[in-house]
Amino acid sequence: MMVRGNILLPLLASVVGLYLAEAKVEEPKQIPGSYVVEFEDAEDSAEFFSHIGSKAETRMNFDYSLFKGASIQFNDLGTAEEEASTLNSLASVKRVYPNRIYYLPKDEVVWTGANGDQSIIHNVKRQLGNDTFTPHVMTQVDKLRAKGIIGSGVKIGIIDSGVDYNHPALGGCFGEGCLFTYGTDIVGDDYDGDNVPVPDPDPWDGCGGHGTHVSGIIAAQANEMGFTGAAPGVTLGMYRVFGCTGGAANDVLIDAYLQAFEAGSDIITASIGGSSGWSEDPWAVVVSRIVEAGVPCTLSAGNSGSAGLFYASTASNGKKVTSIASIDNEVTPVLLTDSYFTIEGGDQETFGYAPGEPSEWTDVSLPLWAPSFDTTDPATACTPLPDDTPDLSGYIVLIRRGTCTFVEKATYAAQYGAKYVLFYNNVPAGATGPAVSDVPQVLATGMVTAAQGESWIAALEAGSEVVLDFLDPLTAPVSLIFQQNNITGGFASSFTTWNPTFEMDVKPQLASPGGSILSTYPIPLGTYAVLSGTSMACPLVAAIYALISNVRGTLDPATLENLLSATANPQLLNDGTATYNVLAPVSQLGAGIVQAYDAAYATTLLSKSSLAFNDTDNLVDTLNFTITNLGSEDVTYELGSIGAATGYTFSDSVYPDPFPGLELTDEYATIELSESKVTVPAGGNVTVSVTVTPPALDASRLPVYSGYITLNGTNGDSLSLPYNGAVGSLHSAQVLDTAYLSISTDPDLNPVLGNSSFVLTKSGDSTNTTYPVAVALLAFGSPKLNIKLVSQDTSEVLGNILGFPIDYVSRDPAASAFDGLLDDGTYAPEGNYKFSIEALHIFGDASDPAEYDVVESAPFSIRYI
Ligand SMILES: *[C@@H]1O[C@H](CO)[C@@H](O)[C@H](O)[C@H]1NC(C)=O
Ligand SMILES: *[C@@H]1O[C@H](CO)[C@@H](O)[C@H](O)[C@H]1NC(C)=O
Ligand SMILES: *[C@@H]1O[C@H](CO)[C@@H](O)[C@H](O)[C@H]1NC(C)=O
Ligand SMILES: *[C@@H]1O[C@H](CO)[C@@H](O)[C@H](O)[C@H]1NC(C)=O
Ligand SMILES: *[C@@H]1O[C@H](CO)[C@@H](O)[C@H](O)[C@H]1NC(C)=O
Ligand SMILES: *[C@@H]1O[C@H](CO)[C@@H](O)[C@H](O)[C@H]1NC(C)=O
Ligand SMILES: *[C@@H]1O[C@H](CO)[C@@H](O)[C@H](O)[C@H]1NC(C)=O
Ligand SMILES: *[C@@H]1O[C@H](CO)[C@@H](O)[C@H](O)[C@H]1NC(C)=O
Repeated sequence: MMVRGNILLPLLASVVGLYLAEAKVEEPKQIPGSYVVEFEDAEDSAEFFSHIGSKAETRMNFDYSLFKGASIQFNDLGTAEEEASTLNSLASVKRVYPNRIYYLPKDEVVWTGANGDQSIIHNVKRQLGNDTFTPHVMTQVDKLRAKGIIGSGVKIGIIDSGVDYNHPALGGCFGEGCLFTYGTDIVGDDYDGDNVPVPDPDPWDGCGGHGTHVSGIIAAQANEMGFTGAAPGVTLGMYRVFGCTGGAANDVLIDAYLQAFEAGSDIITASIGGSSGWSEDPWAVVVSRIVEAGVPCTLSAGNSGSAGLFYASTASNGKKVTSIASIDNEVTPVLLTDSYFTIEGGDQETFGYAPGEPSEWTDVSLPLWAPSFDTTDPATACTPLPDDTPDLSGYIVLIRRGTCTFVEKATYAAQYGAKYVLFYNNVPAGATGPAVSDVPQVLATGMVTAAQGESWIAALEAGSEVVLDFLDPLTAPVSLIFQQNNITGGFASSFTTWNPTFEMDVKPQLASPGGSILSTYPIPLGTYAVLSGTSMACPLVAAIYALISNVRGTLDPATLENLLSATANPQLLNDGTATYNVLAPVSQLGAGIVQAYDAAYATTLLSKSSLAFNDTDNLVDTLNFTITNLGSEDVTYELGSIGAATGYTFSDSVYPDPFPGLELTDEYATIELSESKVTVPAGGNVTVSVTVTPPALDASRLPVYSGYITLNGTNGDSLSLPYNGAVGSLHSAQVLDTAYLSISTDPDLNPVLGNSSFVLTKSGDSTNTTYPVAVALLAFGSPKLNIKLVSQDTSEVLGNILGFPIDYVSRDPAASAFDGLLDDGTYAPEGNYKFSIEALHIFGDASDPAEYDVVESAPFSIRYI
């Protein structure tokens, strides 16, 4: 049996590699023996440092107004956990957190520029005064830009992989007078999350690309691709927290946030996250504090849409942190290399293609031949071509993409002598460069769009000869085209993570375009790229905060979030293939797609950005919000409500259903408002109460309902306030699916059923040691996970094994090898044992054993050499 997903928190250095092999990018893991410690007061930290003495190295010191403390690494991993538990008793220590590693979301690279020379790009619709960049039109940024608003005077701090500030569209320099005026590299190129960061003052990014893309979304200057960032007038700071590979640890992220805050950032944004669902996560706690101190923080919601409901990502799941979901761009930008074709010897026409590998197209001039004229066949050329196929060495073979691999299709064509194979896309959006390098005879390949391929097939079917004349792909002109996305454009990106948190916090807050976004990329990696992810949605909202603050003169996080939430547009539900006549749930898209202009000029202010009704156990059936009329005339508002799709968390399993796949219904909550029409005097306010009756649905399946309170004002303001709640009991949800004993030499961590004996060592030399491993398959988040050692002979509970309990665990598999050490730092005696794996229910009382799901493992014995 395969363990689902990542193995969380390996606790022995010797087995980290084993577990990492399974690591999924977004799930955090813990650095063995490393902790983040918060002090009561930096002045008293001497007690702490004398206590740890030479037992631990200090990784980082945090001497910031919002957070005083240090991160440390114990030298002896065997006793680290015990040492850490003694820290809590020190008067100088406020809290001790494990040091976890987070990863950049896996954003899809749709394309990148080819050879670093984009001067040959032509055919780009250049911007003539008006902003026509689609993500800006979708969010009304174009309307603010038309008024000359560019974010002047606002400092945005970015936490990311660094930036190629040499990029001409990103200012070309770093420091005073540049676009990037501040920031630093907290980690260095070689940092991977596990090792010690080596800071330097230069946040240049030549290997990642992510931060350069994010930066351009905020503030790219006018460029040959014809777009700008949303707020090109801001100044930027970059705090580099990723090396060239791997993740970033909590201490690095916390330090970056605190540095960005102290440097006077007006807004801080990060497109980083890890599966959590708990606002108590230490990184989320620090970000919440920064928001409370008056600096808005936008964070990407995550790219784990397929995981279904309740998969909130940290730090976006922090209290008061603005979590940003992704909408697909209405157009897909595609960069194609130009060449020519003729039909029946007629006029020479231009077409664009994405060169693949290999790409020896230079001066190839040959007629097209197609194995099939059926432009809907999903599997053209996935089987050997028929016997009457001609010698293909004098043709360019045109094959529809789909079902089998490019290599298989090219192989079948090569069996009849083909040397040149061109694919046409099977989906409307774009063309990507196919790789068929494994087929030795093929000299060149590439892909054209579905529309281009279909028009050639039509000509061939009509008996016309179609001849293609290729230019050198390295020097041919390149065209940027924008293809309409009629399937998902304007709707939720299917990858955007679903919420809420395990404590029913409403998340995400807002949505913006993140699917298929054109932006800057490091010059060595192609100069420009189209990427998809909530990583791309988040910085656009940070830039919009800057634009709105130019108009309204405030950076107050709650005011800006409330305005953007109230004016955002909820969208219809789309599952990646079809659109349904019901609104997408708040747990997927929050308030909907932001409308920057409406938010900037709204004269109606709501006191909240959402209403959380909680689950049935904790139902707060009446909540209030206040409408403030900032205008100079009285305004009458018509109030109403509209439901959004209700999603069932579970169907027939203790695991939440995936998306697409989870059942959605149009059975809504009933909303009663204290007023259906209310007049708010100029400068005055009125409080409205909202009473919910959750839908009568099967509580055991934990349906999550949501919708919007709507307000139409006589001043023209049209607002909506999202609400969210669940039917059923989070407290009753089973959190532990199962748990079992496994063995550290099994990379799949299958259960071990019989009695096993393990020979452990107390010497620390673990080269040949095979460990018992406790595996816990968590179906739902748990506030506390124990892995206790229980004597098989006496039933005595010896206590947690080293590293446990762990607080605030995400709903992912967790596993820990056991080397004989208990949480109190002592070795368990030789004997026969079993693991008792205990996961506390959500909202459960940690001191009540009945509040845990408990599974006992198969027995095993340990002895020491
Ligand atoms: C810019 O937009 C304004 C208002 O929508 C329009 O009147 C004007 O013609 C546009 N200018 C250009 C160059 O397209
Ligand atoms: C998408 O819609 C536009 C406008 O309605 C239309 O011109 C275009 O042909 C459509 N494209 C596809 C691929 O359906
Ligand atoms: C839901 O209720 C629980 C239990 O009272 C509470 O801890 C939690 O904060 C509530 N959630 C929200 C969003 O208010
Ligand atoms: C909501 O407002 C009503 C009327 O103003 C008031 O009586 C009630 O106490 C308020 N409830 C809450 C939860 O604030
Ligand atoms: C507000 O206006 C919108 C659009 O005209 C309409 O769909 C909605 O029903 C109105 N809501 C109320 C409460 O009148
Ligand atoms: C509403 O107005 C009252 C009276 O002016 C004021 O005390 C209160 O703070 C206002 N409430 C809000 C939420 O603005
Ligand atoms: C495992 O050992 C225990 C005694 O320690 C014994 O009771 C049990 O039957 C054994 N189970 C198997 C599957 O061998
Ligand atoms: C580990 O096992 C290998 C192969 O069995 C052996 O060569 C090596 O000496 C062992 N190392 C230790 C430290 O026992």
